[in-house]
Amino acid sequence: MKRIGILTSGGDSPGMNAAIRAAVRCGIEAGMEVYGIYRGYEGLLDGEIRQLNRSSVGDILQRGGTMLKTARSERFRTEEGQEKAMQMLETFGIEGLIIVGGDGSLRGGLDLSNRGIKVMGLPGTIDNDLAYTDYTIGFDTAVTTVLEAISKIRDTSSSHERTTIIEVMGRHCGDIALYAGLTGGAEAVLVPEIEFNLNEVCQRIVIGANRGKQHSLIIKAEGVDISSQDLVEAIERKTGRETKLVVLSYLQRGGSPTLRDRLLATQCASKAVELLHADSESKAIGTVNGQITALPLQEAIEQEREVNREMFNLIRVLSK
Ligand code: F6P
Repeated sequence: MKRIGILTSGGDSPGMNAAIRAAVRCGIEAGMEVYGIYRGYEGLLDGEIRQLNRSSVGDILQRGGTMLKTARSERFRTEEGQEKAMQMLETFGIEGLIIVGGDGSLRGGLDLSNRGIKVMGLPGTIDNDLAYTDYTIGFDTAVTTVLEAISKIRDTSSSHERTTIIEVMGRHCGDIALYAGLTGGAEAVLVPEIEFNLNEVCQRIVIGANRGKQHSLIIKAEGVDISSQDLVEAIERKTGRETKLVVLSYLQRGGSPTLRDRLLATQCASKAVELLHADSESKAIGTVNGQITALPLQEAIEQEREVNREMFNLIRVLSK
C-alpha cells in the first residue's frame, strides 16, 4: 500500500490528535504517503483531502479536539453518498483508510470496506460504548474532567447542604456516569441501561441527610428517561431538600488527553498503520485486558455492550 488516508468522525474526543500524529508519523516511517481527510465523511465527499507530513502533526499530541475537524454526515448515510466517497478515494489514489470515531463512524467504515477499501477503525469517542474494546479513546479524559467538576460541586453543595444533580454525556451508554459516580463518591448514579426507582433515590438522600451527610450528589447520564429539570423538581418535592442541576455538556468533551488516552490512541494508530502496510483485511483496533487487539471490523461492531452491574451495585453499597 502506497497511500493511506485518515479521518475523524462523529463527536470529537481527547486523544484523536494523538492518533492522527501517530498514524502520520508511523505511516511515513513505513514508506507510505498519508493524507488527512478533513471534516469526517463530509470532507471525504467534498474532497477536502491534503497530504500530511511529519510537521503537519507537530504540537498536537497534547491538544483535545481534532486537527482534522469532525462532522456527522447525513449525506454519507445514503448509497449514493457512499458511492461518491469511494470515487473520491479512487480519485486521490487512497488505498487504505484509518477512521477514528464511535459506533456510527465505524459502521460507516464497514460500509466502505464492503465496497472494497481496507479500513482500520479506531475507537474514538468519550462514551465508551464500543463492546469490542476495554476503553475508547477520550473516555478517560472525559471522566477525569467530570471528576474535577464533581469535587468542585461537592464543596459548594456541602456548604449549602444541597442535593445536586450532575448531568453527564451518554445517550445510550452510562459509562461516564458510572465511572465518575463510583470514583467521585456519588449517592446515586442513573444510567440509561438500568431502570431507576425515584423513591429509592429520594430515600437515600433523606437517610443520608439524617445521618449527617452534608450534601448529596446524583450523577445522571443524559440518556436516562426523564429530563434533568423534571428530576430536580421531583427530588426537591419528595425530599424537601434544596436541589440544583449542573449540566456538564461539552465541557467534558474537551481538554488535554490523559496519559491513558494518549497511549491508547498512539498504540491503536500504530497498529492500524502496521496492518494497512501489511495489506490486512479491515479491522477494528482496541484493547482487550490491556493488550492491543485487532478484530475483523464487522465482528467487532456487532458485539453487544453490557453495562457493568457490579460497578453499579458497588456504588449503592459505598454510598449507603
Ligand atoms: O460523541 C459522543 C457524544 O458526546 C455523546 O455523549 C452525546 O450524546 C453526543 O455526542 C452529542 O452530540 P453533538 O456533538 O452532535 O451534540
